[in-house]
Amino acid sequence: MLKITPEMLRRMKRRGERIAALTAYDYPTARLLDEAGIPFILVGDSLGMVTLGYPDTTLVTMEEMEHHVRAVARAKPGALVGADLPYRSYETAEAAVANSQRLIRAGAEAVKAEGGRVIIEQVRAIVAAGIAFCGHVGMLPQSVREEGGYHIKGKSERERDGLLADAAALAEAGAFAIVLELVTPAVAREITNLVSVPTIGIGSGPDCDGQILVSNDLIGTFPWFTPRFVKPHLNAGEQIRAAVQHWRQEVEGKKQ
Ligand code: KIV
Repeated sequence: MLKITPEMLRRMKRRGERIAALTAYDYPTARLLDEAGIPFILVGDSLGMVTLGYPDTTLVTMEEMEHHVRAVARAKPGALVGADLPYRSYETAEAAVANSQRLIRAGAEAVKAEGGRVIIEQVRAIVAAGIAFCGHVGMLPQSVREEGGYHIKGKSERERDGLLADAAALAEAGAFAIVLELVTPAVAREITNLVSVPTIGIGSGPDCDGQILVSNDLIGTFPWFTPRFVKPHLNAGEQIRAAVQHWRQEVEGKKQ
């Protein structure tokens, strides 16, 4: 089985190959994504909303991340397995390294944290500890409460300059890839041309080196909210409801 490494994702950018990444939080999803050839599986802290029923990602704990990372790692995917450092788990370089090591011990092969220059000491420390690091700039879901919502980034000259500087700093500090979330397509294209590591966009237009989605949004297993930029490829939520109703009616003797 081919095992994907961070260096392979970097090579994909150099060769002009696009990267299709998805989230998984459990064993069967990780196996299915892997069998479908996804090279990068992220145990995102989006699990807070789509599997744990929290209103946002800020309530997700290290213990919850470890639990879901372990489930995904049990699938032994050929894909690279990344995991999010949850809210407030990387406020100092020491905490960032200690919590990254916990995720690695749980089975992650890379970690991701939100922010650019403001967390650069933490990123340097994680990379110096020998842990593969994925950056995340643009709209930062862990800052949703301070920002009062999920807003598109890069609309003003000041935001554009900040995003470019953040992405350049992350690449220079050793990030192997950078997620661009809700960045204007023009700025996402500029960042993609600027940095040598792959950019992986989510709601950031078509010109990133790869795309990532929350799997539940793609397959319709969290049908109560779908981000505007997602085109679901399956309506599994409806199919589950229909299958369950059908079976219930069989049990209740209303169907043969
Ligand atoms: O938490 C998450 O799932 C993420 C991705 C969607 C980028 O950060």
